[in-house]
Amino acid sequence: MFNRLIRANGRHRRLEGWPLVFTILTTGAILVGTVVEFAPVFLVGGATEPLATVHPPTPLELAGRDLYIREGCNNCHSQMVRPFRQEEIRYGPYTRAAETVYETPHLWGSKRTGPDLMRVGGKYPHLWHVRHMENPRSTSPASIMPPYPHMLTRETDFESLPGKMRGLRRLGLPYTDAEIENAVALAQAQADSIAADVVAQGGPDRLARKEIIALTAYLQRLGTEFDGSPAEEDRELHEEQEAIEVLTDAATPEATPAQASGAAPSPRAN
Ligand code: HEC
Repeated sequence: MFNRLIRANGRHRRLEGWPLVFTILTTGAILVGTVVEFAPVFLVGGATEPLATVHPPTPLELAGRDLYIREGCNNCHSQMVRPFRQEEIRYGPYTRAAETVYETPHLWGSKRTGPDLMRVGGKYPHLWHVRHMENPRSTSPASIMPPYPHMLTRETDFESLPGKMRGLRRLGLPYTDAEIENAVALAQAQADSIAADVVAQGGPDRLARKEIIALTAYLQRLGTEFDGSPAEEDRELHEEQEAIEVLTDAATPEATPAQASGAAPSPRAN
């Protein structure tokens, strides 16, 4: 075996001695690799065409997205559910490429100190996010997520929104002139509505202009624009999930007094 390796090595050495031939062969190898990498992007049309239900973020959601990037949330949270069974059971339908065409830059990520946030939109009421950001331990007792109380006192920068939207339009996001002109008013209207919900849910007053509301608007949109039509495999998965629940319920011993009295379940380990 070693002899064969040494012979192959010798042939390679000889090849390296012919600079022109060697250059042509390596260039060819790199070109083949490039085609293999790029071809799928052009051949799989669905990867670059947005789903009919997908829209670019509203002005307020855009402000929230910038806060998410500013605070480095993506250092601990990914936004991509992988097409694996265990991922779908935990987070929901896997992320379609067509859902993220308006993401500039992408926040898919791979670092998961915290859970994936791709489908967190609508999972909790607005007030939950306010409380969780102010102090993660108040909603998730064993959380190691840092608190962001400053987001409840700092004002959202609404004025920069039209400029940001114009910039994003040059990168291909289909914002209309009217949306850009009315960006500030649109953002404030959405913020007022979320802030009113927070108050109705028993939360603090006068948050509408604060960063926490923009961030909440952004978090609540995540993953909600998927057209909902579960692929065949999703339906199968759902049935399987229900079967697992039935099995685990049957296997769980009598509820402890704490559980029976409705105490909060222990936080999920990551
Ligand atoms: C040091 C890592 C870390 C950073 C930075 C971080 N998080 Fe978290 N996050 C976690 C962990 C761990 C959890 C799970 C425990 C919990 O719910 O707090 C979590 C949970 C969450 C949840 C609840 C997810 C669910 O499905 O229950 C949301 C929403 C969230 N984080 C948003 C954010 C946002 C927004 C930021 C940036 C402002 C951020 N996180 C920054 C670690 C982090």
